[in-house]
Formats: sequence, structure tokens, C-alpha cells
Amino acid sequence: MSLLIHKQLCLIVTGGIAAYKAPELVRRLRDAGAVVKVVMTAAAREFVQPLTFQAVSGQPVHGDLLDPAAEAAMGHIELARWADLVLIAPASADFLARLAAGLADDLATTLCLATAAPILVAPAMNRVMWEHPATQANLVTLRTRGVQAVGPDSGAQACGETGPGRLAELPAIVAAAEHWFSGGELAGVRLLITAGPTHEAIDPVRIITNRSSGKMGYAMALAALAAGASVTLVSGPTALSPPTGSVIKRVTTAAEMYSAVMGAVIEADIFIACAAVADYQVAAPAPHKMKKQGRELTLTLIPTRDILQAVAARPHPPFTVGFAAETENLIQHARAKLTGKGLNLVAANLVGQSGTGFDSDENELHVVWDEGEKQLGRASKDALARRLISVIAEHYRAKHPARA
Ligand code: C5P
Repeated sequence: MSLLIHKQLCLIVTGGIAAYKAPELVRRLRDAGAVVKVVMTAAAREFVQPLTFQAVSGQPVHGDLLDPAAEAAMGHIELARWADLVLIAPASADFLARLAAGLADDLATTLCLATAAPILVAPAMNRVMWEHPATQANLVTLRTRGVQAVGPDSGAQACGETGPGRLAELPAIVAAAEHWFSGGELAGVRLLITAGPTHEAIDPVRIITNRSSGKMGYAMALAALAAGASVTLVSGPTALSPPTGSVIKRVTTAAEMYSAVMGAVIEADIFIACAAVADYQVAAPAPHKMKKQGRELTLTLIPTRDILQAVAARPHPPFTVGFAAETENLIQHARAKLTGKGLNLVAANLVGQSGTGFDSDENELHVVWDEGEKQLGRASKDALARRLISVIAEHYRAKHPARA
């Protein structure tokens, strides 16, 4: 059953070419059980007729702050109180900027300022506008206030360019709206998780890899979904099925994992690096199968890029969580990783013992952060993942208080 049943959604449509998709979004939200009232900015009315929204929503469409009929009853305050969720789709660069600045010069911005309901934005714009530091800084400001974002997607744009800035797919927007009502610790939060080993080619048939099964990363994805998060899982080669509801990106090498993570991290609120990424790759993999020569063989290895460190070093990093698999001096090494890579949290486990760590069903975790640490004990990877997600949610929420 949809979590949107009887939920009161105020959909703000702003001016952008993707506004033509908004009537279909209204239909899908209503199909999921929501009651939808539409507010249009002046620019949005240049793209789509209010009458279209009135027909698909079955409700009057609101546009003017100074509409005497509506404002006699304090229309904007009524709408602000009525909404369980304010959804802005498409959200233009201009609207994000106005929201970040706290303007209240039209009905849509005033409503956002006057509401206590959570706000979800689905940005859509030209890729250069999306990547502009001003837009990115506005998003950071909004996120710290508890505003959540869904998308944008990457792909062909109306302006003829290709890149990030397309309105997220409508089912993803509906799912993000549903997440708000899931009531979990990570409701509405977007997680990016790496899992599994990587394969580094020696030649077309031989690889360098490690004993990671991916179980811990997949268990983390499942626990995060159960806590109401939306999850993108970047997975190296494993035999596991991705949890239903996650977006899976399959990769083979450390370099591919790096690219997949960097392509998705801008949309992540939390990054969890569970993968056992190869530290080295073969400098020049042989193009054909190497023949046995019966004598010593030397391979030249070059370092791979550290994905976790690169994410943590971004100008506006998500909340970053690393894993430390150690065979000795666990806490000391975990603390060195926390500060060395500039992370928010490190989950450390001893490997090399039988029954825990790589390729086993059980694990034993110890979490460390700047001012403290917590023993999560020994348990199944599924149980530990749930405990760890809880600790991550607590620290993330302390840093980004959600709107009431
Ligand atoms: O420095 P070390 O490899 O021990 O750190 C382990 C942590 O860093 C894990 O969270 C792992 O997923 C991450 N890592 C990474 N990219 C690498 C190597 C490690 O994301 N190339």
C-alpha cells in the first residue's frame, strides 16, 4: 500500500522546460493516493496552462500572492498549514536561489517560508547551471536546513547538451515523496554505498582481486532501505542480488568504481565505502593471454585512486563513512583513517580471524568518530548493518537536523 494515501501534497511548479512533465507527475501522485494542490510561479505559467493542472489535480490552481479572493482567507498561510509535504518539481536554478535566500516575493516562495512541512526539491536545469558553484552552494544551504533533493538525472537535455540536469524520472520523484512518510531514521535521505571487491586485469583471463563477498555492503544497503533511505549501490563483482528498491550500478575495476561513485556522489547525502577496492592495478595489462614461461614473472603495479578520500575531499562532501579492515591495532588504524582521509565515521573490523570479516556471515564492528567510539559487538552482518545504520543516522541527523 502506498504511503502517500490521503497525504496532502503541495506541488510547486517553477519555470523550466521540464514543467511539461509536471501534469503527469500530479497524475502519478494522485494514483498513489495523494491529494495534490498545485502552485505555479509566473514563469511556470509561460510553459503550461493552469487549466491543465486544475484538470489533473481536481483542485483550484494557485498562482498569485496578492489574489484578493484567496488572500481574504490568508490563502498562503492556509496552504502552508494544509501541506504534509511541499514538493517543488521542476525546481529551477532561480527558484533554488530564491529559496536559499529566503525570499518571499511570490506565492511559491512565501509558502516555502511559511510552512513547517518538509520540502523536497526535484531540480531541473541546463547542466552548466546545475554544476555552477552558486547552484551547488544553494543546495548545500538548503540541505543544511533539511530540504531534500531528488535528482537531477544525467542525460540528453532540451537545450541540446548532455549531462546532469534532467528532471529525475517521475517514479523516482514519487518514491522520494513516499520516503518522507516512511517514518524511518533515514526517511528522505539519499545514500551511496560501495560494495564488494574489484577485479584488476593482468591479462584478458587473469585478475588481481580479494576475498570480499560484498555481504556487508549489501546488508548495509538493505538496512538503509529499511530505515527509509533511497539507496544507490555501486557494486564490484559479487554473486549477490541487489536489495529490491536500490539502484544498482555494476562495475568491475577500481577505476570504474571511482567513475561510478564520482558520477553519483553529487546526489548523495551520505556516502558509505564498504567496498574492498584494490589498492593497486597492473600498469599495463597484457592484451592477450600471457603464456607460461617457466621462470620468474614480475608485474608492475601502480596505485589506484582512493575513492573514499576523493569523496571526503570534495568541496561539499556528503557525510562520509569508511571501513577499516585490519589484522592488528584496530582502533589505532581506524583513527588514523578517520583523520587521514577526513571522514565523519569509521567502522572497523578485525580480519584474518576465522568466522568474521571477509566472506563470512558474521562480523564484529567497532565504530569511531572524532569525539567518541562505540562497540557494536559480534553479530550477523545483517544485524550489524542495522546497528551501524542507526549510529550513522544519529550522527547524520545531529549534523543536519530535519525540519519539524
Ligand atoms: O586505506 P584503506 O584502503 O585501508 O581504507 C579502507 C576504506 O577506504 C574502505 O572504506 C574502502 O572502501 C575505502 N577505499 C576506497 N578506495 C580505495 C581504497 C579504499 O574507497 N581505492
